[in-house]
Amino acid sequence: MSDTSTNWTPASWRDRPIQQQPPWPDAGALQTALNEVRALPPLVNHGEVDALRTHLAEAARGKAFLLQGGDCAERFADCTKSAIEAKLKILLQMSLVLTWGARIPVIRVGRMAGQFAKPRSSDTETIDGTEMPSYRGDNVNAITPDLAARQPDPQRLVKAYHHSAATLNYARALVDGGFADLHHPQHWDLGFVRSQSHRAEYEDMVERIRDAIDFLESTGVRGTGALRTVELFSSHEGLLLDYEEALTEKVGDRHYNLGAHFLWIGDRTRNLGDAHLEYFRGIENPIGIKVGKQMQPKELVEIINAVEPANRPGRITLISRIGAADVREALPPLIAAVREAGQNVAWSCDPMHGNTTTTDSGLKTRDYDSILAELEAAFELHAEQSGQLAGVHFELTGEDVTECTGGPQELSEADLSRSYETYCDPRLNYAQSLELALRIAQRLQTRRRNGSR
Ligand code: PEP
Ligand code: CO
Repeated sequence: MSDTSTNWTPASWRDRPIQQQPPWPDAGALQTALNEVRALPPLVNHGEVDALRTHLAEAARGKAFLLQGGDCAERFADCTKSAIEAKLKILLQMSLVLTWGARIPVIRVGRMAGQFAKPRSSDTETIDGTEMPSYRGDNVNAITPDLAARQPDPQRLVKAYHHSAATLNYARALVDGGFADLHHPQHWDLGFVRSQSHRAEYEDMVERIRDAIDFLESTGVRGTGALRTVELFSSHEGLLLDYEEALTEKVGDRHYNLGAHFLWIGDRTRNLGDAHLEYFRGIENPIGIKVGKQMQPKELVEIINAVEPANRPGRITLISRIGAADVREALPPLIAAVREAGQNVAWSCDPMHGNTTTTDSGLKTRDYDSILAELEAAFELHAEQSGQLAGVHFELTGEDVTECTGGPQELSEADLSRSYETYCDPRLNYAQSLELALRIAQRLQTRRRNGSR
């Protein structure tokens, strides 16, 4: 059990300094919204949360691999049948590719069903000469560039709960209804992949999987259900602590955040002594900590100790997001410090947030090659210290958007305006995501062939 003896309550974060909370204009209206959320049922079950923690402990030992992905900012407008199906499809296809390479279970965690709140580097922005509050996510204000739409509206927290519930409900219905069944055609449909060589690589792998399934079924395995369904977990950045507190429940003598299976602390809110670490230390959920290039090795060890003094395997996933240019210098001392402190963690790599650039026309983008370079470096740097990368964290979408450059479609900066839809950071599109999964699968295959790592 975590050491919450020192006066932790779901509200004890309120006595600490806090970053990145919206300036809600009306405290009474905020309270009304939070009471509504508090009265609604949990979105996930505590047993599922415990199961995920156990799976992540396996990932930390190299016996499973974490695939976490989804939008940077989920939009209420994307709570639709087709958008949810597209997200689930790409996550399932990527996980199939990874399982094929790694021959170990892949833990699927969507950045979905609650990934609404966004930290911002500036409280305001100027659009067409008017200064207005920054967009902070659909659970706070609207992206529409006018002053009234940008006012934080606490009723959006209630809407966020309902959109999370609808998304999770449909995702669960799809999985239960056979969408994840390896016999289902969506598994094999390559959607937007046009490149011949990548189609061929994927189709070759699919052929071999089909063959393996045929073989298994001929031996009578069909009835086991293992080929028919998967576990799917939800996650989001635990940013708005008012909302997170409202979804925190006591189960026996422990507290769970039952708004998602997994929550992470963003790079802007991970400061020692601050409210976010205080809130996160008291919940049972497995949690992520983003690790950016400013993080100091000693600081990281202290942060881990602050949120997980009991050092339980599976509770902490460190998500490095350093950038391809700096990862080879910054990551090794962090890995070494955590290892020397004897802390049980799973290391994941987010190759997105350290590789963001802005084009001359002002669009945020990320280049496929930098993303791949940071990932490959992470694989190598963990192996050099006799450890292993336990997972990956992506901003991606199942649709054919043009937000990141490069990849199998060789998108250039000039292509970006064609289908640039994100409300926040640029996401990998369907073809880029699948291509990355193939590259990671190759790494995992090599790792497997070289021994237990
Ligand atoms: C994010 O994951 O969308 C994010 C804001 O990440 P970070 O905290 O690492 O910048
Ligand atoms: Co982002």
